[in-house]
Amino acid sequence: MSPLVIALPKGRILKTLAPLLDRAGIDPAPLLADDRTLIREGGANVRFLLLKPDDVPTYVEYGAADLGVCGRDVLVERACDLYQPLDLGIGRCRMVVAGVAGRPAPPDVPRVATKYARIAAQHFARRGVQAEIVHVQGSVELAPLTGLADLIVDLVETGETLVQNGLDVKDEIMKISSVLVANRASYKLRRAEIRPLVDKLRANVAA
Ligand code: PRP
Repeated sequence: MSPLVIALPKGRILKTLAPLLDRAGIDPAPLLADDRTLIREGGANVRFLLLKPDDVPTYVEYGAADLGVCGRDVLVERACDLYQPLDLGIGRCRMVVAGVAGRPAPPDVPRVATKYARIAAQHFARRGVQAEIVHVQGSVELAPLTGLADLIVDLVETGETLVQNGLDVKDEIMKISSVLVANRASYKLRRAEIRPLVDKLRANVAA
């Protein structure tokens, strides 16, 4: 049978994910190998794809991967139609509104810079605030320091990036962690392989 394909985000989350996979019976060694191959054979009929985090849901949604791991931030922003059998409880951080520390309230129609246009728009709409959303790709903290925007919507983990740039949290939007996602057809057709894997992962998440 063809291998079970698992799409994973390249980067620091792999080190946190590796012990979870190990305890679920999937050898994570190929993931941690220091090379540039994007497809890694994982043994036990598993194949890993290494992707930009934002692309994981796309590969899973179109069935190029059966399973994937991605941040809830990406799932909510992209409004993906994916089955989400398990919150892995890793990669924990918060989606927040931040601005210049000590600066008085922003104008009635604040300009908000973010990578997460949908999440930001929904948040301000819920608050009854008409906001102008400006899309940026990264180093979002720069926006309020340069006059590009009054506020930002971004992820905060330790809070160190905000502090070092003279910003602080104005509001919390949601808690974020990494989620196991599954292609809806794969979840049905390959249930015999996927269900035991999800159960083993769940046992370790709960432990
Ligand atoms: C993320 C996020 C913040 C930072 C928060 O950026 O966008 O900038 O981490 O982490 P902290 O609270 O622990 O300081 P990332 O490093 O992913 O780069 P980016 O600016 O390209 O999004």
